[in-house]
Amino acid sequence: HKKINSICCIGAGYVGGPTCAVIAAKNPHVKVTIVDLNAARIAAWNSDKLPIYEPGLDEVVKTARGRNLFFSTDVEGGILDADLIFVSVNTPTKIKGIGAGFAADLGYVESATRKIAEVAKSDKIVVEKSTVPCRTAQSMRYILEANAKPDIKFDILSNPEFLAEGTAISDLFYPDRVLIGSLDTESGRSAAASLADVYAGWVARDQIITMNLWSSELSKLAANAILAQRISSINALSAICEATGADIDEVSYACGLDSRIGPKFLKASVGFGGSCFQKDILNLVYLSESLHLPEVATYWKQVVEMNEYQKRRFTNRVISCLFNTLTGKKIAVFGFAFKKDTGDTRESPAITLVNYFREEKAYISIYDPQVDEAQIWMDLTEPGVVDETEAVKRQVSIAADPYKAAAGADAIVICTEWNEFRDTALDYQQIYKEMKKPAFIFDGRLILDAKKLGRIGFKVETIGRPRTTFVQTTDFE
Ligand code: NAI
Repeated sequence: HKKINSICCIGAGYVGGPTCAVIAAKNPHVKVTIVDLNAARIAAWNSDKLPIYEPGLDEVVKTARGRNLFFSTDVEGGILDADLIFVSVNTPTKIKGIGAGFAADLGYVESATRKIAEVAKSDKIVVEKSTVPCRTAQSMRYILEANAKPDIKFDILSNPEFLAEGTAISDLFYPDRVLIGSLDTESGRSAAASLADVYAGWVARDQIITMNLWSSELSKLAANAILAQRISSINALSAICEATGADIDEVSYACGLDSRIGPKFLKASVGFGGSCFQKDILNLVYLSESLHLPEVATYWKQVVEMNEYQKRRFTNRVISCLFNTLTGKKIAVFGFAFKKDTGDTRESPAITLVNYFREEKAYISIYDPQVDEAQIWMDLTEPGVVDETEAVKRQVSIAADPYKAAAGADAIVICTEWNEFRDTALDYQQIYKEMKKPAFIFDGRLILDAKKLGRIGFKVETIGRPRTTFVQTTDFE
């Protein structure tokens, strides 16, 4: 099989950037060019302040950038030069048209594929890195074959990415597995072997799995659906805990000790976020419906519905503990990213919560160690429609540190599990002094020692633990 000397990655996002930076760092003899239409993003990749925050990413980029790793807006040049091309563009949920709200918008994948067909002057291996519905490779093949110059051959591989934001670099360095799907033809198997060699630069051969193209595509959707299902399962149980006196951390611990279940992804929370889980499950739901499998669609859809319910339920608890009204009260929101160690806010539960608090006429002060102010304003407004930023700013402010966010507040709501919010890291005694009384903390991530904070004087309300504060008889929960 062919040896890969030059790789192009189309899409310099959360996946394309870190993945191909690691490929370059681990394969110094392979030239890796990451291209994107977004010039600002490429400029940031070429600067000292990378466009995304990931622990360990700076060092990886520094090792390889300018040596065999390049970031460029020259998409055509990147394609021309490459033996192998990763398509790592975004695949958001469609917002309009058939399948709106469920199906993946494959417009970016299609336009990248058309570009490859138009530009390529030699044979290419085209790799789907983006998460796509099962059988997308088939559409890519039609487009490539219908538009390519004569005598040019394309092999299409599926190579879904399993990294998690916040731990992207260690996930890439030590993957559980690398999955490569190909057609079961000689040329398909040979293309898969070429890509496997690239990963073998640092991954053990027995962790590089090859399989049929459609299994590989579906495995990525399946893995995300099962991971999200675990979270929705534990969150559903957290509601039972709150109503009975059981403690979700104890239940989770007990269940996780069963070797058939295992302890990971069993932490209750205010809900999952991130660009992938919801999108990929909805995608699976749409796929099931289009295959005339309504029961299967309903089954997976419930995982997303449980997540929405959890955010609403947690908000209701905040309102009800604060004597059934948030009007004019100040709520400090600790954390805006969808999880710790990332600046990514896509589908972050904090966005939903802040919107609910706004509807209740609260004032909200947000602090997050990694999210830019501009990003927060963008997330809290509907872009393109009318500029609501002024209206949002009348109710929402962004604080420079957690102490300022909490000063004068009626309640703190922990939305992201940043280590710096732990009671071992922040001076909660100081925070308590500056808050209105009774001072509430709503721990949506189970990161606080409720007893310790209780001794300071806080009313601590934790997801998955029974309510501690006085319940009014008119309580609507
Ligand atoms: P992203 O939105 O951060 O990056 C995609 C990039 O592609 C953007 O910078 C965009 O400008 C660029 N792009 C779009 N069309 C282009 C074109 N025709 N030519 C050149 N550049 C183009 O998206 P992200 O998060 O990197 O996700 C990419 C894919 O990977 C998605 O399908 C996602 O589902 C999947 N994925 C994401 C994971 C994550 O943790 N974010 C994990 C695993 C898979």
